[in-house]
Parts: sequence; C-alpha cells; structure tokens
Amino acid sequence: MGSSRRMAKPNLHPILCLLCLLSPRLASAQNPVFACDVQGNPTLASFAFCNRTLDIDSRVKDLVGRLTLTEKVGFLGDKAGAVPRLGIPSYEWWSEALHGVSYVGPGTHFSSLIPGATSFPQVILTAASFNTTLFTAIGKVVSTEARAMYNVGLAGLTFWSPNVNIFRDPRWGRGQETPGEDPLLSSKYGAAYVRGLQDADDPNKLKVGACCKHYTAYDLDNWKGVRRFTFNAIVTQQDLDDTFNPPFKSCVIDGNVASVMCSYNQINGKPSCADPDLLAGTIRGEWKLNGYIVSDCDSVDTLYNSQHYAKTPEDAAAITIKAGLDLNCGTFLTQHAQAAVQAGKLGESEIDRALANNFATQMRLGFFDGDPRKLPYGGLGPSDVCTAENQGLAVEAARQGIVLLKNINAALPLNPSAIGSLAVIGPNINVTKTMIGNYEGTPCKYTTPLQGLAAAASSNSKITAVAGCQDVSCSANSLQLDPAKAAAAAADATILIVGADQSVEREDFDRTDLNLPGQQTVLVQEVTKAAKGTVILVIMSGGPFDISFAKNNDKVSGILWVGYPGEAGGAAIADVLYGKVNPSGRLPVTWYPQSFADKVPMTDMRMRPDPSTGYPGRTYRFYTGEVVYSFGDGLSYTNFNHRLLRAPPDQVSIPLEEDHQCRKQQCGSLDLHDGWCQKLAFDLHVQVENAGNIAGGHTVFLFYSPPVVHNAPRKHLLGFEKVQLRPKEVGKVAFNVDVCRDMSLVDEEGKKKVALGSHVLHVGNLKHLLTVGV
Ligand SMILES: *[C@@H]1O[C@H](CO)[C@@H](O)[C@H](O)[C@H]1NC(C)=O
Ligand SMILES: *[C@@H]1O[C@H](CO)[C@@H](O)[C@H](O)[C@H]1NC(C)=O
Ligand SMILES: *[C@@H]1O[C@H](CO)[C@@H](O)[C@H](O)[C@H]1NC(C)=O
Repeated sequence: MGSSRRMAKPNLHPILCLLCLLSPRLASAQNPVFACDVQGNPTLASFAFCNRTLDIDSRVKDLVGRLTLTEKVGFLGDKAGAVPRLGIPSYEWWSEALHGVSYVGPGTHFSSLIPGATSFPQVILTAASFNTTLFTAIGKVVSTEARAMYNVGLAGLTFWSPNVNIFRDPRWGRGQETPGEDPLLSSKYGAAYVRGLQDADDPNKLKVGACCKHYTAYDLDNWKGVRRFTFNAIVTQQDLDDTFNPPFKSCVIDGNVASVMCSYNQINGKPSCADPDLLAGTIRGEWKLNGYIVSDCDSVDTLYNSQHYAKTPEDAAAITIKAGLDLNCGTFLTQHAQAAVQAGKLGESEIDRALANNFATQMRLGFFDGDPRKLPYGGLGPSDVCTAENQGLAVEAARQGIVLLKNINAALPLNPSAIGSLAVIGPNINVTKTMIGNYEGTPCKYTTPLQGLAAAASSNSKITAVAGCQDVSCSANSLQLDPAKAAAAAADATILIVGADQSVEREDFDRTDLNLPGQQTVLVQEVTKAAKGTVILVIMSGGPFDISFAKNNDKVSGILWVGYPGEAGGAAIADVLYGKVNPSGRLPVTWYPQSFADKVPMTDMRMRPDPSTGYPGRTYRFYTGEVVYSFGDGLSYTNFNHRLLRAPPDQVSIPLEEDHQCRKQQCGSLDLHDGWCQKLAFDLHVQVENAGNIAGGHTVFLFYSPPVVHNAPRKHLLGFEKVQLRPKEVGKVAFNVDVCRDMSLVDEEGKKKVALGSHVLHVGNLKHLLTVGV
C-alpha cells in the first residue's frame, strides 16, 4: 500500500487519484501466479504433477490425466483456465519482451511498485552492432527484470519475443523489430537473444520462455490495402529454405527456444497455423522443438472468419491442432475444440498432446513448483529493475549499433572546444517515445538527443534548438524554414535530426515510398544551404530511406543512422558525434533508391531476380540494382587493414565413390553426403590492424560467392566476428569454414547441394579463389 501512495503526486487531481488507487493496474505488491501451492493447500502435495522430484514427462502425464475434456480445452487459449480443485490458477501466456519488458501483452504491466523497465534500442539497431555477446547480455538483463516483475505479480513467464522474420522489403512497418535482411545475422541474433532470455544450461529449466515469431514468410503488414490477415505469400521452396526459415531453425536448434509462433498469412494457399508440414513436420519433427507452438493473435479466428479456409469453426479447430498447434492466442480453440472432438473431427489425444507441450513448458519455468519466491530467481524484485548497470547496457547497445555512413574531411567527431554555437534542427531533436520504437515498455527514464548533446557540449557553447516542422510527418503547413535556416546560418555546426516514428512505420502499416516523410527533404536541403558551419545529418528510423540527395551533397559532411536508439539514445548519439565513442555499427539492411519502391510490388515475395521481367531481386544476396547504401556499410573514426594470415586451400576435392556419375560426367553440384561432409572443413585466419590513432570496434565479414548454379546468391555472409582494437593494435579473427554447413546451397526443390567450381571468399578487399572439385 505504501507504494501506491507514492503514486499520489501532490499535483494530481483528487478524483484522478482515487481512480488510480482503485485501478488494479496500479495496485501495489501482489503475489505471483503459480500452481501447486502446497503450503496453502497440503492436499496438493499428494499430486504427482506437483512433485518436483519427478521428471517432467511423468508430471505432465499425471496432470493431463486428471483433467476433464471441458477443463482441457480451457488450456488451449492464451488466458488459460483455472482449475481450483487442482490448485491451478488462471495463467496469461501473452507477454512481450522484444527489447525490454513490454506492456504490450496483457500478461505484463507496470505499477507504482515497478513503474518502468530498461528499454533497449529497437532490435534493428542492436543487430547493427554485429556483437552476439551483446545480444545475449541484453536478453539476460531483460529476463532478470521480467522475473523480478513476475515475483511481484506484474508479469508472466512466457514472452513472445524475438521477431526473427527476414526484413525482406524496406517498406515493412515491422522491419524495425527484426535483426535485418541477412539469414546468418538473423539466425545468430535469434539464438543469442533467446539464450539470454531463457538463461539456463539445463534444458529442463527456463528463466523465462522466449518465442521466435512469426513463422513464416511473414513480412507484409498493410501495404496499399493488402493486409497480413489475408495475404497469401507465394514463396518458392528455395526461398523458404535459404531465406525465410533459417532464423527459425536456428532459434529451435541453436537457441533451444521454448516456443515458435505461426503467422497470420498463408504460404502458397495454406495458413501457416494450419499447415502440418510447416508445424508438425518441420518445427516439431525435423527441428525437434522442445516447447509449444502458439498462433498469432488471433490467427485461428482469422483463417476461419477472414480467409474462409475451413467450412466450420470445428473444422478450423481440428485442422490447426492436428497440424501441430498447441496454444491459440485468442479464444477460438477454447470455444470450438470441444465441439470438434464431439463431432469426431479431432481426437482428444490431439488435445492431450497440445496440453502436454504447454504444461511441460510451464514445468520448466517452475510454475508447478509452488511459491516461486522460495525458488531460484525468487530473490529478484523491484531493486533489480532499472539498475544503473542495466541502464548502462542500454546506452552501450546504442553506442555499439549506431552506423556512420558518411564522414568527409573528418568532419566527425566534432571538437567541442572548437564549437562555440551549435544548431540542432529537425522533428526528432528532442523525442522520447520515438526512441523506443514499438513493442515498448515504460522506460526507466529518457535521455533525448537534445539532452545528450547539451550534456556533451562544452559548457560555454550555445545550443539553438529548432524543430523545423511540427512532427515527422512534416506537412507543408507546419514547415518553418526561416527559424531553422537562421539558426544554421549563425552556428559553427548544424546537426539535423530527422527520420521516422510509429506514425510512419509500424505494425499494420507499411510505407509506400522510401523518401523522408513530408517536407523533411526540403528542410534538410534548405538548412544545409543556409548553414555556416559543418552539417551533420542524423537519421532516426527503423527502415531505410533514400537519402541519396544528402549522400551526394558535399555540404552534408556527415551522416549517421541511429535506428530507434532506446531510452538513453540521446546520450549515445552525443557520444558518437563528440567522439567519446568511435562508431562501429554496420547496416543490417540494404538501403534502396526510391525507384525500387516504384517498380517492385511489396507483395512479390521472390528473393531472386528475374532478368526477363526486370525484377531486381531482394537484399544484398540477390538484388542487382543500384543502392544508396549496402548491407554491411559503416565507417569508423579510425582505419582498419586486413591481411590473410592463414589462407584456405586453393582447392578442395570431394572424395566421391568410384562409381559416382559425377566422376564420369560434368556436374554442376552434388547432393550433400554424410560420408564426405564430415571431412571438408578449413581454417581462414585474418589479421586486423587498427592503423589509426584512436581505439575502435571492427566487424570482419566473411562473404562468399558461389559458382553460378541453382540460382545461388551472388554473395552470402558465412561468418562475422567483431574485435575491439587500440590504436596500432593488431588482432586476429579465425573462421572455421565447413564446406557442407557454410558453403552449401539449397537447390530449386529445397535440396542441399555443394556447387562444383570456383567459389570466391571475400574479407574486405581480400579475395581468395577456392575450387571445389571431385
Ligand atoms: C515425490 O516423488 C518421489 C519419487 O517418486 C517420492 O519418493 C516422494 O514420496 C514423492 N513425494 C510426495 C510428497 O508424494
Ligand atoms: C526536451 O524534452 C524534455 C523531455 O520531454 C523536456 O523536459 C524539455 O523541456 C525539452 N526541451 C526543449 C528545448 O524542448
Ligand atoms: C560486445 O558487447 C559486449 C557487451 O557490451 C562488450 O563487452 C564487448 O566489448 C563487445 N565486443 C566488441 C568486439 O565490441
């Protein structure tokens, strides 16, 4: 109660305050939700499902065996039913923790007891750090704060994050939530973040449960009236296997994720949540998910009511559960699964299977172990949330992700003592909520760009702040050029902070073009023309923009992309501008020109180009057209040199059996073979030197270009590693390349192959030719 009194700020209206005391959302310390409270109810101790010494399978079997069919179907929805006679309270499965504990799912909320949580940069910026250690470190902080909130009744234990869909099209409103366009980076991000969230070496334990979503080929929300709820993604087996599915596979196999969420859309005419090949076949069968498959909210209702994919609600319930769905975000299965069983469309054993997957996950979380405050993590509470250390990691993540795209005549970093006056101009100069993107929570506190710059500038320098337009939509009516130009004309340096926010790109809202919104381009151009000193352009956005006008304008000396940089983004931006931090982020997506959006429909899912129609293909792996900036671009305030220390062999010979047909005739590629795949690996060591005078981080990318066969990617990332080097320091990065794992292709039918012929390995400007023969 004491803490709810803390809410009552003296300036609050008395009626509002009465409301806030009555509102359950603002209630003070509560108890966590858990089953098997043997202290409170000793009879529960005799139930085997409450017995912590038994193995999970036996406990699950015992529990399922005690339930009636009516009770069972109550466990198929995100708001799982209570069974008081067994000491099981209702549990809300839906919480979110994309880049910090979020209030978006109904399972989690903030109160006076824990009013906010650490809000990390939006994922697209964190991904730009290319630092897998950082991905895991963030996940651990988020799960610590989540457990702390669970212990006081403010959060669930199951978080439907991360989003590992490939950022296929630059217009996608949810691209900001993802690690970008590259399957390897997305796979590494997904597995690393999941490992941080779940934070358990024992596969039978989970700190919290993560969920990789949205499976699969989901990357269109609402584009010119085409909506995700009814969109039928036409996808080739090849694109599915080498682009859309790898991050999910890595989540399950490398990350041991506790859940996969199926998406709204159809894939080649079948809703993903009703496709037995995708669910039972691939996720459960091939990848061996240890956990539950959940539908998006509310995919089952959508495939029935909007897609008309099933004749009756009972059919919809039966096909999804039979396809392998275990949990339905929404109420559709809770309402219709029992009737489906009674109509003979669905076996009760199928429901038992779904429940077993759900309960086993809750057992691993300790939900059936009694009072969690007496268990591991039980000591976590409000003082573990928004700690200085956690907030420090949020600033650090933004620093590591920010990408320097242009820096002519070493305009950056700015020298604070040489700048007597600074003009800070643009609609994003002093934003708060914009910095945390979507799937956000209430942050601990904000440091806006203006606040960050004011703190970093020398004490006697003068800052003039001018928004220039009312907000990012920057309508012609709200454009105020004169004060902006006057400020720039008088200042030693001008920093323009422009870009987007959720009104421009968001869930259920894709962009239709790639230009800066509204009159922002005019603002940038006019201010640049009027400016007396150095002009630096800062783009705050999730998705990329065509800013070639600024790239090609010599008066714009520097360009930074800062993503949505999180609660303390303003501090990180200032650190980079003033050189306290040397930028080391690299673009996780291609920045296309506007002509791409004019010519390519967002609905065309094909990754590969089609020269016969002029279709240019997508992402750095396939796209053949001009770019504004490329995947992997990003400058530093120092220079790095590469040297090949240990080169791969020039030739790899595959030991085929005597009578193999490819010994007699020329073959373009070979099917992978367990026998020889074991032996085909080599090391590649790269020496990296920081040739400049300041310390910096540098990501070494190992790309390869396979021979032209099976519509293979032109170029493909097969490894990356980031190093930190002091001035003149020399470091080494070692890659172990396994030909079958890293250099194989997926052919047109989805079969894994090794291409025969010349493969080019690239590291920076270094190239190495490797011939694979028989
Ligand atoms: C829990 O299971 C163990 C192993 O079967 C058994 O020895 C123990 O008696 C059980 N505890 C209770 C309270 O039933
Ligand atoms: C910047 O934003 C902060 C936080 O919302 C606010 O307190 C401050 O007054 C703003 N500064 C300017 C110059 O608008
Ligand atoms: C990666 O991130 C971690 C955590 O912030 C940091 O300690 C480490 O120095 C980073 N690595 C590189 C190479 O920047």
